[in-house]
Amino acid sequence: MLLLEDLTDKKFVVCPAWPYMNAVPHLGTVLHLLSADIYVRYLKLRGANVISATGSDCHGTPIEVAALAEGISPEELVNRNHSQITQLLREWNIDLNYSKTANPFHYQWVQDFYRKCFENGYIFSKEIDQLYCKTDKRFLPDRFVEGTCPYCETPGARGDQCDSPTCGKPLSPVELINPVCKICGKPPVKKTTTQWYYDFSAFQEELSDYIKRNQTLPDNARKFSNHILEEGLQARTLTRDLAWGIPAGPSIPGADAKVIYVWLEAVLGYVSASAELGLRLYKDPDYWKQFWLDQDTQTIFFIGKDNIFFHTLLFPALLLGTKESYGKPFVLPYNVSTTEFLIFDDDKFSKSRGIGVWIDEAAQLLPTDYWRYFLAATRPEIKDTSFTWSEFEQRINNDLNDVLGNYIHRVFVLIHKYFEGKIPECHRLDATDREFVSAIHNVPESVADYFDNFEFKKAVAAIIDFARTANGYLSTKEPWKLIKSDPTTVETTLYLCAQSVATLSVLLGPIIPDSAAKIWQILKQEGSIHIQLFQEAGKLKLNPGSLILESKPLFEKIESEDLQKKLDVIQKKANKKPKKVKKVPDRDIIPFKDFERLDIRIGTITKAEKIPKAKNLLKLRVDLGEDLGERQLVAGLASFRDPKELIDQRITVIVNLEPATIRGVRSEGMLLAAVEGKDLGLLIPDKDIPNGTKVS
Ligand code: MF3
Ligand code: ZN
Repeated sequence: MLLLEDLTDKKFVVCPAWPYMNAVPHLGTVLHLLSADIYVRYLKLRGANVISATGSDCHGTPIEVAALAEGISPEELVNRNHSQITQLLREWNIDLNYSKTANPFHYQWVQDFYRKCFENGYIFSKEIDQLYCKTDKRFLPDRFVEGTCPYCETPGARGDQCDSPTCGKPLSPVELINPVCKICGKPPVKKTTTQWYYDFSAFQEELSDYIKRNQTLPDNARKFSNHILEEGLQARTLTRDLAWGIPAGPSIPGADAKVIYVWLEAVLGYVSASAELGLRLYKDPDYWKQFWLDQDTQTIFFIGKDNIFFHTLLFPALLLGTKESYGKPFVLPYNVSTTEFLIFDDDKFSKSRGIGVWIDEAAQLLPTDYWRYFLAATRPEIKDTSFTWSEFEQRINNDLNDVLGNYIHRVFVLIHKYFEGKIPECHRLDATDREFVSAIHNVPESVADYFDNFEFKKAVAAIIDFARTANGYLSTKEPWKLIKSDPTTVETTLYLCAQSVATLSVLLGPIIPDSAAKIWQILKQEGSIHIQLFQEAGKLKLNPGSLILESKPLFEKIESEDLQKKLDVIQKKANKKPKKVKKVPDRDIIPFKDFERLDIRIGTITKAEKIPKAKNLLKLRVDLGEDLGERQLVAGLASFRDPKELIDQRITVIVNLEPATIRGVRSEGMLLAAVEGKDLGLLIPDKDIPNGTKVS
């Protein structure tokens, strides 16, 4: 008897962390999306009412930094990466409700949400000192600054969080010791500005209570949350001085020039993407409410340990801030399934150093089922786990190939050999058969148990163990010895084996969907494998006499050295791709009006002399025509030109810059020149145009 709970009336929202759009995800990033996909597929096989909500995290300073580096606009970068990722997720069979935070729908949803929080009194403003870069003429929020962490003293901490695995504290840029600007590398200065705050401290008690009450949270998430709670929750800045992000103005009076901090809007994507789904599927603007405003819904998050704070405390505090503005209070996270880090050969994934595997490369190397299997089987649930090629090779060759693939293939081959491809009858069972039948009966329940506890590794191990048991049963039965003398026994044996293969395919569906579907197809079973039920998977349901298809081995062995070489070639090719032509970044585009304000004229140098004690400077007299007459200029030309050469030289000068005094010499204009290393070229008209002519 299966004791699996009936989930048909239960509602779930499965929410994996939204990947940043600054790069293609690597294996460690895709892990959360994959975990969610496996979980959704599992819950569907339990008959549950489940939706998912995730997408591309499009804002934030890493994306702006990446766009600046490529010379394109953040929007362009985000759109390009978003479409690449949706394609890759398809290849990985990660079939989730996948949106993006750059959608206008999300913008509006977030703005409406914060309007409510503001009305409820959880948002206030304050004048504060923030870091400002004089070179780049901009404020430096979050990851636009790096410095030493004030808590653990690790250098290279980012302006929003310390990345050290033992610290992980959320930070603000002004706290950093020896901060530097990420754009130009120079130390920033402090400058006063107004920011709006979200008052997390108001939720200290409710959240302490929530963490205490929640029995599902894994240890790592609970410990970290308690640690932060013990220090006391503090108000955090909600707004930023950035151009790329969700405008705060529509929600908060006076905050027109600000955008909402990326984390405080991205987490709301879990709800907004649910709402978007309801509109798309059912044209129902309130669809999301039956999930998020019902205390019986289980909302389940899949994240890495660096994101704990944002999911166990920050997101719940935001939800609590709406009180009952939506009619009812929000349900708080049922579980935040938090994994430790996946590292690569004991090192961090790093594209620039060529360390790691990215999901596009992985899909080029092998069928994605291989990667899905491996990641689920080694999911870093308890401690940081290192991806090594040798373990990958072992897992694929031993588990997937030798245990699972070979067993299934053997069963299919024997059925073809002895029974012309027809599933045989099941006759009277002996003790060994009965034992095997009970193993078939029980395996769905034990796998479900592990899934319900978010122990994916154990779920996978239980499936492989079952395949091993089945293999053992077949070997003990030795049908090849009995086929002549006792065909009835062989029929029973192969009937049970065929059933075990069907059972396996249902259990494998969430993990390796393509391979599971192939097995299901060979067995010629009705309906898609992905709409079967766990509850039914352990019953003896195969119809004797029905024909199965010819089969080929499901998996192939791999050779890790071979793969590493192929990966090298793929990575080299990718690096050689011609770089996109750089465009001027958005922030440097100025209106024509601004250009018109410059008064630029053609002139001729009449006198040039060195300025004592100033190595680079020359004092020039320039004839700028009737209107302006002669003017004195100071120019950094001494290392490029002999003063004598410059007499009668035509030049171009900006004449309406504020006059400056350089080394005690007054300068009333700036000449235009282009410098490249040791060469300097003066800008001159290509025809004899009179002095004083305006440049436009
Ligand atoms: N983009 C974040 C990261 O990769 C995760 C965002 S999760 C969300 O660390 F909920 F905020 F979207
Ligand atoms: Zn700077």
